[in-house]
Amino acid sequence: MIATHNPGKLAEMRELLAPHGVEAIAAGALGLAEPEESGDTFRANARIKAVAAAKAAQLPAFADDSGLVVDALDGAPGILSARWAGAAKDFTAAMTRIERLLAERGAKEPSQRKAHFVSALCVAWPDGHIEQVEARADGTLVWPPRGNAGFGYDPMFLPDGYTRTFGEMTSIEKHGLPPLGLGLSHRARAFVKLAEICLG
Ligand code: IMP
Repeated sequence: MIATHNPGKLAEMRELLAPHGVEAIAAGALGLAEPEESGDTFRANARIKAVAAAKAAQLPAFADDSGLVVDALDGAPGILSARWAGAAKDFTAAMTRIERLLAERGAKEPSQRKAHFVSALCVAWPDGHIEQVEARADGTLVWPPRGNAGFGYDPMFLPDGYTRTFGEMTSIEKHGLPPLGLGLSHRARAFVKLAEICLG
């Protein structure tokens, strides 16, 4: 089962599993509650989500904890990336907040606007076994945001070496794995490591 209530992540995680013939159900579909993300690292929070779901559903559970780390903001929003969008999940407001803070620090040049996404993935089994991996995708923050694809902070994130933001890329380009896609995203990169461990 996929231990997320975030529809954007759910879609990406399903697409990552599909080529391996793994069918997954969502935590939301089983009516599982979202555990409190009380860890202070991406890794710890991924583990909390996967372990809680595996215990509750008695199924192997796959969780992601991820976020955007902005160099000029001392790593913010980091593990608070979802929380910066508030209860209304307003990522336009969250991106505007980042831009305001960057402007306050005079961060205008691309070199002052470096950021990376992090994805910590965890698979937990009902018997207590777990596997964990982590990966990142590096880029620069642009303003105004560009593109309506993806989710969260995608429209503001220009991956290194590309001219289009994650918000302007198709899902295959963003996280599809070779030969179909470029395996660009933090989640795709982490998934490659996890698949080697768990799926052979
Ligand atoms: P959490 O892992 O559920 O705490 O939420 C992570 C948050 O980080 C998401 O709600 C998004 O705001 C942001 N995030 C994580 N991965 C991505 C991505 O691939 N694109 C855009 N935003 C992301």
